[in-house]
Amino acid sequence: MNVLGIETSCDETSASVVRDGKIVLSNIVLSQIELHAPYGGVVPEIASRSHVESLPSVIERAVKDSGLQWADIDAVAATYGPGLASSLMVGLSAGKALAIRLNKPMCAINHIEAHIYSAFLGEKSPSWSDVCPFVALIVSGGHTSLFRVEKLGRYRLLGQTIDDAAGEAFDKGANLLGLGYPGGPAIDRISRDAAKDHVKFPKGRIKDNCPYLEGLDPKSCFSFSGLKTALLYYLKDNPVEPGGNDCALVAASYQESIINVLVDKTFKVMGSEKTLVVGGGVSLNKRLREKLTERARSEGRSLMLAVPAYCGDNAAMIAGLAGAGGGVWHEPGLLIDVSPNLELR
Ligand code: KG4
Ligand code: ZN
Repeated sequence: MNVLGIETSCDETSASVVRDGKIVLSNIVLSQIELHAPYGGVVPEIASRSHVESLPSVIERAVKDSGLQWADIDAVAATYGPGLASSLMVGLSAGKALAIRLNKPMCAINHIEAHIYSAFLGEKSPSWSDVCPFVALIVSGGHTSLFRVEKLGRYRLLGQTIDDAAGEAFDKGANLLGLGYPGGPAIDRISRDAAKDHVKFPKGRIKDNCPYLEGLDPKSCFSFSGLKTALLYYLKDNPVEPGGNDCALVAASYQESIINVLVDKTFKVMGSEKTLVVGGGVSLNKRLREKLTERARSEGRSLMLAVPAYCGDNAAMIAGLAGAGGGVWHEPGLLIDVSPNLELR
């Protein structure tokens, strides 16, 4: 089955054709970073307008690059949440219109579930059912969540951030360090050859009676806003030249604090589970990938990291998950709507 996938939940306009949930025939990702960089973050209005302008040509290129004809497309899938409402609307509306025009079924996809699926793309990767049950860590600009995955469509939320997401911690930290937007890649780059213990940052402890836990165990939840404040105060007393040696040292310590918390808490919740699956934009981070790999090896667990091309937002994970039987399926029609606060529980 050939699925055309569409992803427009935030600041990437993407379309992809995936065969049988595995074989990525094309994956076009158009980043809007340059449009948002002057504002230091994503501006929803600019994002949705840019999706409107770019999506038609991105979809056409995805179909052309796949080597298929429109008649070969068996289904259309699009992200319906979570994400920016006005951006989701562009991709979902395009998907619905195409499904009606092609008279093919339409699949609405949960963006977080698709980030989990991203580690299963590619002919050589195992199938989801062979690996279940497993633990998934999704680390992106909007989410930092741990799930126990029992089977496709069955998830238990084990933990999540109670304030900033890990990607936000990178972006806000980079902003304070004068490294620009997006912050994750900038901090990753500047930290590579710097000592990682120059500054002792706090660990972000969460109290048992914290009102934002929503019934979850504080030991499996994350808090990054205190770390960002600690960086703010550190820089007030110890200003650094953006991009200079001191900046690299502070950035590397800050990155290390985020990563240590992510790795420690993730491996603690794994219990007897053998496999850890990791996806989302922050999983592009070189140091995080190294530390996860090291820890998995030392504990004798198996680690499935999404390949870099599928870590950030992309439509291959949307088409792939639909092709694997995930998502909410509809006959062509207009019934389905966006769900900006969609959860995976
Ligand atoms: O998954 P994603 O592309 O979009 C969302 O669904 O949010 O994640 C974007 C986030 C941004 O916060 C960005 O700074 C972060 O991923 N990111 C990184 C790296 N590359 C992207 N964070 C740390 N290290 C990186 N190399
Ligand atoms: Zn994402």
